[in-house]
Amino acid sequence: MSQGASGLEPIPAGVANLADFEPHAKARLSEQAWAYFSGGAADELSLRANRAAWDAINLQPRVLRDLSGGHTGVRLFGRELPHPILLAPIAYQLMAHGDGELGVAHAAAAQGAGMVLSAQASMPMEPIVAAFAGEAQRGPLWFQLYWRDDREFMRELLRRVERAGFEALVLTVDAPVHGARDRERRAGFALPPEVRAVNLGGIKKPIDLLPGQSMMFDGLMPRAATWAELHWLREHSSLPLLLKGVHHVDDAREAMAMGVAGLIVSNHGGRTLDTLPPTAWLLRRMREALGPDVPLLVDGGIRRGTDVLKALALGADAVLLGRAYLFALAAAGAHGVAHAIRLLRDEYEIAMALCGCRSRADIGPQLLIDARE
Ligand code: GLV
Repeated sequence: MSQGASGLEPIPAGVANLADFEPHAKARLSEQAWAYFSGGAADELSLRANRAAWDAINLQPRVLRDLSGGHTGVRLFGRELPHPILLAPIAYQLMAHGDGELGVAHAAAAQGAGMVLSAQASMPMEPIVAAFAGEAQRGPLWFQLYWRDDREFMRELLRRVERAGFEALVLTVDAPVHGARDRERRAGFALPPEVRAVNLGGIKKPIDLLPGQSMMFDGLMPRAATWAELHWLREHSSLPLLLKGVHHVDDAREAMAMGVAGLIVSNHGGRTLDTLPPTAWLLRRMREALGPDVPLLVDGGIRRGTDVLKALALGADAVLLGRAYLFALAAAGAHGVAHAIRLLRDEYEIAMALCGCRSRADIGPQLLIDARE
C-alpha cells in the first residue's frame, strides 16, 4: 500500500459509505480516465437500472430473534469465506492510482474479499498472486479472460495463469466487441502510454478486410468465442471455469451442461449493450430457472450492505463490487479499497442483524418485498 509521511494514504474526510468515494475519485482522475471508469454504454440506462433495481426492493425483517453467534460467512466452491464480497475484474487500474492491481490485491486479501484479476490488468500477475496468497483469511483468487483468436497465445496464457496460482477462470462472454461508449468517445478516450495490458504482451494480428467487408461481421466477430471455444477452454485448463455475462436461461443451461462451474450474473456494469435488464432482476430469473445448486454470483450497482443482503436473498452465493472499489482506489489508493470493503461488510452485518438473520441460511426471498408489486 502506498504510504505518505504520516502512514497510509488518508481516507478523504466525510467518507461514510461507498458512494462517498465517487466525487473524490472524479476530482483525482483525468477527464479521460473518469469517462472510461464511470461511463457506460449509450444512454447508460442499464448502468442506472442496476442501482435503481436494488433500491426498488424493500426488506421485510424478522424481529426478536436470538442472533448470538451470528456471522457473515458463506461457503463458495467448497471454501468457507468470512463474507460474500469479491472484487470484480476491472482493466487498467494503474490509470486510477499508482497502487494499481497490486494495491487492490493487498487490500482485498487483508479484508478477506475475493479478487478476480482482469486479463487487461496493468501490472504483472505473479506479484499480485504473491501479495494475495499469503493472507490466511483471504478469499478466492480468479483470473478473468476474453477469448483471443490465437490458440498458441491462449495455451501459453492458461499455463501462466495456472502456474501463477489462480484458482478459477472467468470467461467474459458479453463483450466480444466494445459497447457504444458515448462518454469515452466524447472525452476522446485513449489509454495513456504508460498503461498497458501487460499480461497480454502479444501483439494482436491486424485485421485485413476486403473492400465492402464489415469490420464487425467479417473482422471482429469471426475472432470471437463461440461454444466451440468454450469446449476448447474446458479441455485446455484444469481450473474451474465460470462464465460472466450470460443473459438467457437457455445459454445458462447449455453452459452448465458443458461443465461450466458457475455463472456471474452481470451486464458488464452497463458498459456493453445498453437496455439490458438490471442484474437484480436477471439474478432472480436465473435462480428460479436453474434451481438451487448452480453457483451464481452477481455484480452491478452493489453499493450497500442491504444490496448484498438482497442479492443473497434473491439467490446469489456471493456478490462482486466493481466501480465502487475502483473509485475508492482512485480516491485513497489501497487503503481506500480496504476501507470500502470493510464499510460494505460492516453494513452487511448490520443489515443481517436488523433483518433477524444469524447466518446465510436465514437469508432468502422471504426477506424481500418488491416496492413495485
Ligand atoms: C472492459 O472490460 C471494459 O468494460 O472496459
